[in-house]
Amino acid sequence: MQFVIEETKWVGKTAHHYELIDSTNKKAKELAEAGCSHGTVVTAAGQEAGAGRRGRTWSSEPGQGIYMSVVLRPKLQTDKASMLTLVAAMAVSKAIYGIIRDCGIFPFIKWPNDIVIRGKKVCGILTEMATKNGEIDYIVVGIGVNVHNREFPKEIEHMATSIEAEIGHEVARESLAPLIWQEFEKYYDIFMETQDLSLLQEEYQQMSANKGRKVTVLDPKGEFEGTARGITANGELIVDTSEGQRLVSSGEVSVRGIYGYV
Ligand code: BTN
Repeated sequence: MQFVIEETKWVGKTAHHYELIDSTNKKAKELAEAGCSHGTVVTAAGQEAGAGRRGRTWSSEPGQGIYMSVVLRPKLQTDKASMLTLVAAMAVSKAIYGIIRDCGIFPFIKWPNDIVIRGKKVCGILTEMATKNGEIDYIVVGIGVNVHNREFPKEIEHMATSIEAEIGHEVARESLAPLIWQEFEKYYDIFMETQDLSLLQEEYQQMSANKGRKVTVLDPKGEFEGTARGITANGELIVDTSEGQRLVSSGEVSVRGIYGYV
């Protein structure tokens, strides 16, 4: 099923759809290497080699979820690129809420960029960057949303869910996918005004599943515990620990709630 992306100014004006593909991120990177324009979108009904963060795979059953990627060519310092993942997470949270708001359920963001409903993950985002002469050549932001799934592989079933499994009625992928790009475009344009999250920080905080909760920070240099307080304008997680406040960057670590996945 091809999504129609109409209500945007620049995202998805060129779009490529595949019924089955290895990975939309991989295809988007190929198109970017071949010179495709800023905002080009790749969507697929299913992926055979969906890529997740930290070298993991992303379960991408045909027809069960949304699998899509966008190519971006921002004039941005390379060290600011990871913030686009948080921008994308805000877009997904807002778009899902727009579709399910009648259910009284809120899709929260587990820092930095997982979307969770009732404590389980419904969306993952994979941002990949290529540089040329020390500058950003392109960034691919890939978004995977579990929409219809009722079953998950054993190893992830304790932490994965789908929108329909949580709200108990049908959700149309063809409505949700374009809405995600509309919201993404709005948040991206705001982000680019300041090239940081200063104008979005407060809204991100309201969407945060972690704020005010105890977290374990799985830092390769040493695990520690604390209470998440929000994010900085650079997207770092602010964690109060018994030894003072620490700022956590998304590249190095992952965060787990003390009592579960969030
Ligand atoms: C994560 O590990 O949480 C990130 C998962 C990202 C999955 C999406 S699905 C669409 C796009 N294409 C890929 O191969 N991966 C991303």
